[in-house]
Amino acid sequence: MGRKKSIRFKEIEENYNVIQDGKPLFEIIKGNWSQEIFKNPNPIVVELGCGKGEYTVGLAKLFPEKNFIGIDIKGDRIAVGSNQAIEQGLKNACFLRTKVHDSENFFLENEVSEIWITFPDPHSLQSGIKRRMTNERFLEIYKKMLNPNGLLHLKTDNEPFFDYSLETLNNFGVNNLQFTKDLYQSELNNLHFGIKTRFETIFTEKGFKINYLSCQFEH
Ligand SMILES: C[S@@+](CC[C@H](N)C(=O)[O-])C[C@H]1O[C@@H](n2cnc3c(N)ncnc32)[C@H](O)[C@@H]1O
Repeated sequence: MGRKKSIRFKEIEENYNVIQDGKPLFEIIKGNWSQEIFKNPNPIVVELGCGKGEYTVGLAKLFPEKNFIGIDIKGDRIAVGSNQAIEQGLKNACFLRTKVHDSENFFLENEVSEIWITFPDPHSLQSGIKRRMTNERFLEIYKKMLNPNGLLHLKTDNEPFFDYSLETLNNFGVNNLQFTKDLYQSELNNLHFGIKTRFETIFTEKGFKINYLSCQFEH
């Protein structure tokens, strides 16, 4: 492991705002986010596959009346957002290191108000369809985590993945679906507060348009 990576792994070991295997809260956090971490009953917003956590940190700064949790399996990426949240004194942002498909171990039914999926790995239709974060098996998990009025947001540069996601969501059953295939030229861009993730910046510079959708699950 490189020196930078090992420093970051040490940081997330020590940072109070990272929950990961081996720390006491990891085993008991399900249903206890408000009491144990945030110390308030405010709505919980989760960013899945958060990478360096641009949305988690950016939204936490803009919305102190909500609580934000960035989830990713890669500790060195989470370390970046975790350090920024600490440096900026954000008490309403934290990070959970785990696999998205294990989220049910960490959230009760209806515990979450919003989910953001930001630039997920698109995975190929042939070999990786079940690993797509908008595959039906993931949607089942999100539907349980979200409260009945909860919102799902998806942002991606990958149009085939976006088309797949629209189709999967429509077949699964959603309400109030809004979407655009060119976010920056859309009035929906107002909902993004100028926050760009690392992958968003990379793909925008390559000339890709940004696809965005939001919806609620049918109950
Ligand atoms: C393409 S990157 C996007 C990162 C960030 N959201 C951005 O837009 O810059 C995808 C991220 O999802 C994470 N990831 C992929 N599959 C995951 C899974 N099943 N559980 C947890 N994290 C996952 C990866 O570790 C990676 O950080």
